[in-house]
Amino acid sequence: MNFPQTIKERRTIRRFNTTPVEPELVVSLLNDAARLYEAEGTPRWRCLIAGTPESRHRLVESMMAKLKVSRFGKLLPAKMIDFFIKRITDIPVHLIFIAESASDRRQSDENYAAVCSVMQNFQLLGWDRGLGALWDTDPIFQSESFLAEIGLQEGERFAGILHIGYFDKAPRARGRTPAQQKWTAIGGGGIADGLHSDQAQISAHSILEVLNDAVWAPNDGLREPWRFIYMTGTEAAAKLPDYSENPSSAFLLIAAKQEADPHKQEEDYAAVCCLIQNVQLLVKSRPWYVRRSIPDWIYDRDQCKPFGILPEERIVALLELGVNDRSPQPEPSPPPLVNITYL
Ligand SMILES: Cc1cc2nc3c(=O)[nH]c(=O)nc-3n(C[C@H](O)[C@H](O)[C@H](O)COP(=O)(O)O)c2cc1C
Repeated sequence: MNFPQTIKERRTIRRFNTTPVEPELVVSLLNDAARLYEAEGTPRWRCLIAGTPESRHRLVESMMAKLKVSRFGKLLPAKMIDFFIKRITDIPVHLIFIAESASDRRQSDENYAAVCSVMQNFQLLGWDRGLGALWDTDPIFQSESFLAEIGLQEGERFAGILHIGYFDKAPRARGRTPAQQKWTAIGGGGIADGLHSDQAQISAHSILEVLNDAVWAPNDGLREPWRFIYMTGTEAAAKLPDYSENPSSAFLLIAAKQEADPHKQEEDYAAVCCLIQNVQLLVKSRPWYVRRSIPDWIYDRDQCKPFGILPEERIVALLELGVNDRSPQPEPSPPPLVNITYL
């Protein structure tokens, strides 16, 4: 896949045609999407598929149950409710993504970050095969009937539904803010000094090139909730006490803006995960490596202060970037990872 092109060209599709989507294709894309995710740890997440007329109907009924009996729902014309039900049931496939429960906050974030990244991979791989997707987190999914239908357990995090189908026309792109405007450099690598950093093998300038493609991540309300904090290995070693010094690496802290509304917080965290996933995919076409991690210290506000993290922000991940000194090895194909249930 030409990652830079697909990342920029992918659009959220809200109008699908009636061409059926082969179930085998969905499962194979899911497994490929899971294999493309690379980070430390063993994240746990699961996916439910509603791809038959019966399961799609049950799903939409569970979404509508609360609305139908609510005062607002009773005021809605029956035609409007039927229109909504038909719109959802006509979409060939719905994929429901859930991050499994975890023993602590960091593991919970790891699970959630993984599932969001896989959703982005799925959208990109699907796009390459002519499939469109809508990532949907409508508040209607918070209803008890829907959560019971998908079997959400305590501690699990619902990441959203991907509605999947073929489409006739993609909408026009809405522009993204250049990454430079969301960039802060600690030490060298600032805009003012021409983005030069002497120590890092990878210049701030070339990282910005990657970021300017990565910002084409899906993000609800186009809030573009990310910010980039760049530093060299020397700076990182000075600021992170337990970090092994590697002066030739470049480091990027990716921060997410935290809205007061918890629903938006989850959506924004998800969007930042998609952006990070884009970076990882984009780096594949360069002679670089990237290591993605969620260090424990990001949960300690005091340890975040030296990096200029604002009270309404949180760090989503630390990326270490460097130049590959080994010739690329063919990667062994691991077994499929996805825990799939059919609704
Ligand atoms: C976490 C997340 C939640 C989203 N939720 C919705 C949603 O509920 N309804 C919707 O129409 N679009 C939703 N979107 C899609 C965004 O609106 C879309 O990505 C944005 O408008 C940019 O368009 P693009 O994806 O075509 O670049 C969501 C995207 C993400 C990443």
